[in-house]
This record gives sequence, C-alpha cells and structure tokens, in this order.
Amino acid sequence: MSLVLLLSIFMVAAPMASLASAGDFYSQVDITWGGERAKISNKGKLLTLSLDHASGSGFQSKNQYLFGRIDMQIQLVPGNSAGTVTAYYLSSQGPNHDEIDFEFLGNLSGDPYIVHTNVFSQGKGNREQQFYLWFDPTKKFHTYSIDWSPQLIIFLVDDTPIRVFKNLESTGVPFPKSQAMRVYASLWNADDWATRGGLVKTNWTQAPFSASFRNFKANACVWSSASSCVKNNTSLGTNAVKDNVLSNSAQKKLKQVQSKYMVYNYCTDFKRFPQGLPPEC
Ligand SMILES: *[C@@H]1O[C@H](CO)[C@@H](O)[C@H](O)[C@H]1NC(C)=O
Ligand SMILES: *[C@@H]1O[C@H](CO)[C@@H](O)[C@H](O)[C@H]1NC(C)=O
Ligand SMILES: *[C@@H]1O[C@H](CO)[C@@H](O)[C@H](O)[C@H]1NC(C)=O
Ligand SMILES: *[C@@H]1O[C@H](CO)[C@@H](O)[C@H](O)[C@H]1NC(C)=O
Repeated sequence: MSLVLLLSIFMVAAPMASLASAGDFYSQVDITWGGERAKISNKGKLLTLSLDHASGSGFQSKNQYLFGRIDMQIQLVPGNSAGTVTAYYLSSQGPNHDEIDFEFLGNLSGDPYIVHTNVFSQGKGNREQQFYLWFDPTKKFHTYSIDWSPQLIIFLVDDTPIRVFKNLESTGVPFPKSQAMRVYASLWNADDWATRGGLVKTNWTQAPFSASFRNFKANACVWSSASSCVKNNTSLGTNAVKDNVLSNSAQKKLKQVQSKYMVYNYCTDFKRFPQGLPPEC
C-alpha cells in the first residue's frame, strides 16, 4: 500500500473516536417508547415504528455524538398518512438544549409529504424551513443525513443538500457546538398541526401506521468526555463539503432545491417577525 493511501486512510479515520458498525439496530439503539410498536427485525438491519390510537413509538441511539455525519434510510408511512409525523433528529439534553430536526409530515394518499426542518441552539428554535420532496418517500427507502461540523450544519436528502445552517456566532447567534447529541426517531400523532396546518385529521381506521428505518450510520465522533471530540474545522465524511465550504455543484443543487421545493422559510416570514428577521437571516 502506498504511503499516500495509508496516510489518507489514517486522516479519515483519525478524528473519530469510534465508528460504529452500520446497520445493526440491536447494538446501536434503544427502543424508548411504544413497547411492541417498535420492532427490530432482519438480524438487526430493519427497524419498524408504528402508531395506533393508543400510542406512537420511538428509539434513540445508545451513543451521543459531537460533530460528524449521521445517515438514516427511511421509508415513510404509505397511503393515507395525514396527521402522522415521522421525526428523525439529533438532540442534546437539558433546558438549553441543541437540536437538529427532520420531521416528515404525512398527508392524504397522493398528496405530498412535507419535510420540516429546524435548528435549536441554546434552547431556542423557531428556525423552520419546509420542503416538498422530488420523489414519493413511501415507495422505497431514501437517505436523510445531517452533516454537523463546528462551522456548518447541512441537511441532505439522498446526498443533495436542502438546507445549510452556518455558524454565525461572530454575529451573536449561538451555534450547536458544545453539547453532544443523540440520534432520535419517532412516529406519532400530530393531527392538531401536521397536515394542512391541522385541517386534515388522522384517519384511525387506517391504523396502525408504520415507517421503516435501516442503514443507520454515524460517521461521527462518539462523545465520552469533553476532550474526546476534536473541535476543529474538519467536516467528517461528506461528499458535499470540503474545508467547510460547499462545493460549487453542491451549492448549485442547494439553490435548485430551495427554489423549486421550498414550502416555508422563516427567514422570509416578515409577518411572524414584525420587529425584524432573526440575525442569521
Ligand atoms: C484538527 O483535527 C486533526 C485530526 O484529529 C488534529 O490533528 C488537529 O490538531 C486538529 N486541529 C485543530 C486546530 O484543533
Ligand atoms: C398536503 O397536501 C396539500 C394539498 O396538496 C398541500 O397543500 C400540503 O402542503 C400537503 N402537505 C401537508 C403536510 O400538509
Ligand atoms: C377513513 O378511512 C376509511 C377507510 O378507507 C374511509 O371509509 C373513511 O371515509 C375515512 N374517513 C375520513 C374522515 O376520511
Ligand atoms: C477554521 O475555521 C475558521 C473560521 O471559518 C478559520 O478562521 C480558521 O482559520 C480555520 N482553521 C483551520 C485550522 O483551518
């Protein structure tokens, strides 16, 4: 093996305290909610969450992470999924928690899901952006990723960036960078707001609803103590980012997605922020 190759393998591997083996839910997550409604099958490769009138269900990663790239393949609730929300997010604990959210808002059969995103830093969110998808997310699995470095948070769908949240601490906007986060997923009833703002309710004759997860990958620093995760500019394991700058092609894709598929952007909601838009906008 050439020295260059060896070196590059070392450099890729070095910043990670550990790289969990992908796709074994038994070793990677705990089911935390809903009892039998959450099921791991296929030798740990598949996790199915379900929702009925009595309860939803959910799971969380055993590890906490500080920076890195988290990937999950998800096949969303098919058919009439109106009122249901499938959530997949990173979150720390405590009153001033940080959080990076994907929430998939269901809809009537044939009507489009909405991908709802948000970023909380130091307990404060209110940074929603929403998108339609360019495919039917119930037909097969698609990959939803969060790429989190000290400089950037990138939301990706099948490797296409849909949202970037930059570290603008220099302008006084706190950025999630010192609290480790777990990965969480859940399926629950939110028919008071999810579909057409709450107009369309969950049709319980269709229950149980279910969503499936596979190929959870955390190419990320596993947090064990404050000093164990290197806090520098390295964005781990992404194709879209180099030296914390989106490549030109990624930047172009981001613009295309935002112009074609964005449904809501808090940064253009002047009615909601009559005193002025948040500084990061
Ligand atoms: C960035 O991370 C690399 C890889 O772990 C490390 O060698 C380097 O010292 C770090 N740089 C800074 C500025 O922390
Ligand atoms: C559901 O479908 C309606 C009608 O096409 C659309 O306005 C709405 O944005 C869709 N998504 C959700 C989550 O309400
Ligand atoms: C709920 O689903 C059932 C079975 O498909 C259907 O007959 C009924 O009309 C639906 N209810 C509503 C309120 O749409
Ligand atoms: C890390 O990023 C900051 C801000 O973008 C920059 O000022 C600094 O030079 C970078 N450090 C390294 C080691 O690249």
